[in-house]
Amino acid sequence: MGLNGRMAFFTEFLRHPLQVGSVIPSSRFLERRIVAAAGVAMARTVVELGPGTGGTTRAMLRAMPAGAKLLSIELNPRLHRLQQHIGDERLIAHLGSACDLTDIIAGHGLDEPDAVVSGIPFSTMSAEAGTGIIEAISSALAPGGRFVAYQWSGRVGTLCEATWGRGEAAMELRNIPPMRVFQWENCRPQ
Ligand SMILES: C[S@@+](CC[C@H](N)C(=O)[O-])C[C@H]1O[C@@H](n2cnc3c(N)ncnc32)[C@H](O)[C@@H]1O
Repeated sequence: MGLNGRMAFFTEFLRHPLQVGSVIPSSRFLERRIVAAAGVAMARTVVELGPGTGGTTRAMLRAMPAGAKLLSIELNPRLHRLQQHIGDERLIAHLGSACDLTDIIAGHGLDEPDAVVSGIPFSTMSAEAGTGIIEAISSALAPGGRFVAYQWSGRVGTLCEATWGRGEAAMELRNIPPMRVFQWENCRPQ
């Protein structure tokens, strides 16, 4: 990612700190950990919530198979425009909110995702909005699909406990700030 992307991210953080949630984009180390946790190398459909400047998006696209699809949902119009420059035919960049996940997936005619990857800041949204997004992810995911959330705060872990139990959590220290990477598997039968 170029200097322009980093500047855009920082400027948008200053304008909307609670929404953007981080001062700088994720590190390569965190990107690699997310790609591995989500199992995107075997996925046919992946949804990303909060792609920001697109570092995590590019990392997933590098790992995904040729015929796969990645739907990225970004709330911030300026950051969404950066997604449109990625230029990969597998990517569908959608400007909108994770709160509308169910309608957005249906609107693009996509299959149940094998993975949902989220960088959105659950700690700064209302419990109602957070629970609504988690319920939508739970109904959308394919059986055996994975939900991966990277957060500095442990709030998403608490919110998900009622739906999926404790899940796995790892810490990536080579990121500013250090991030927890939570991972759950959808055990819903086919
Ligand atoms: C911590 S940044 C992560 C950016 C990027 N994935 C990375 O790792 O560098 C969180 C992103 O989530 C976006 N966001 C926040 N709330 C959202 C929502 N409800 N729906 C979609 N995107 C959201 C923000 O605009 C921001 O781009």
